Amino acid sequence: MKLDKKDILKALENITVPGEGQNMVESGAVKNIMVFGDEVVVDITISNPSLQARKKTEVEILKVIHEKVYNKAKITVNVKVDAPAAKPKANEIKGKPIPGIKNIIAVASGKGGVGKSTVTANLAVTLAKMGFKVGILDADIYGPSMPIMFDVAQEKPLAVNIEGKSKMKPIENYGVKLLSIGFFTQPNQAVIWRGPMAAKALNQMIFDAHWGELDFMLLDLPPGTGDIHLSIMQSLPITGAVVVSTPQEVALADARKGVAMFQQDSINVPVLGIVENMAYFTPEELPNNKYYIFGKEGAKHLSEDLNVPFLGEIPLVQSIREAGDVGRPAALQTATAIETAFEELTKNVVREVVDRNKSLPPTEAIKITTMAGCSAVKKK
Ligand SMILES: Nc1ncnc2c1ncn2[C@@H]1O[C@H](COP(=O)(O)OP(=O)(O)OP(=O)(O)O)[C@@H](O)[C@H]1O
Ligand SMILES: [Mg+2]
Repeated sequence: MKLDKKDILKALENITVPGEGQNMVESGAVKNIMVFGDEVVVDITISNPSLQARKKTEVEILKVIHEKVYNKAKITVNVKVDAPAAKPKANEIKGKPIPGIKNIIAVASGKGGVGKSTVTANLAVTLAKMGFKVGILDADIYGPSMPIMFDVAQEKPLAVNIEGKSKMKPIENYGVKLLSIGFFTQPNQAVIWRGPMAAKALNQMIFDAHWGELDFMLLDLPPGTGDIHLSIMQSLPITGAVVVSTPQEVALADARKGVAMFQQDSINVPVLGIVENMAYFTPEELPNNKYYIFGKEGAKHLSEDLNVPFLGEIPLVQSIREAGDVGRPAALQTATAIETAFEELTKNVVREVVDRNKSLPPTEAIKITTMAGCSAVKKK
């Protein structure tokens, strides 16, 4: 039997493309048909990347050609996946704008244990000292650390009645308002949550809470770049992200992934910059000695490489760790090198936020309208 391309095309018209109401030929999925004796090669492109979809398409093609054209044809189907390119949604801020909250800054890392929570806590108290209204939303569902870092682990947020609606009242210490997933779970309770659940809980802690006016809400993220992060990023209007890394190679590799996560088309959150934590070790008694135990300026080089701002370096100092453990962030100790390091960092973050809000179209959620109390902030 002589196989004919036209017959094969006609047979393929019997296969419909799911969700499109068109057949495979009309939709342009059939890219090429070649016939060599009783052999047929069909090249097609589908948009659904799942293995199941590929298999199903392949089986359908074999079946219609065998049934309608020639039951002994030897058929090869080449399936190419051509997922519709995610349209870049330039500068679009996802989620509902949050009344009263001007900027949400996500603090992320990629690798765990590099000091996200420490940086978040100290950024927050420094912003508060500068006169900004600050809140922290502790989004680390694996190991919420803010209640301990702010010495409020025993507290439970109360409900307040706001215009007939019951709202959670954030706990406040050192001029920083705080809500944490830790307030609602038992200590030591392993929380195994999936992204959408975590995003829902966080949405509640934002929208069903009485934050009042905030210049900055800092979001302390769990480590990693997984499902949970995607859900959070896509459901909250995040102004920008601060990525924390140590100078170490393994941490830098993860920080790079962290930056890439924010920059991908479906997320598109501006990266405000990279912070180098544990940049060097300084013994308390020898404050001028610097030991680069995790390597020197790794995060700084990464920021140059990725063309994102370098926000500052924080030394590895015992008192930073101790302060975290006793629940009084180290930057609160006045006239110390640590306070200065966090001030530098904070000013750079504020400056990047201001620049970001100038250069990208403002949305209700990302406007920073007050620099009150931040006279120390130098403009570029
Ligand atoms: N600059 C620093 N100097 C000394 N100790 C630090 C410094 N930064 C962080 N630490 C300590 O390192 C440990 C890990 O820090 P932290 O909890 O802030 O990291 P993390 O990135 O939030 O961790 P996780 O990924 O588990 O959320 C803590 O004990 C903290 O006190
Ligand atoms: Mg943490």
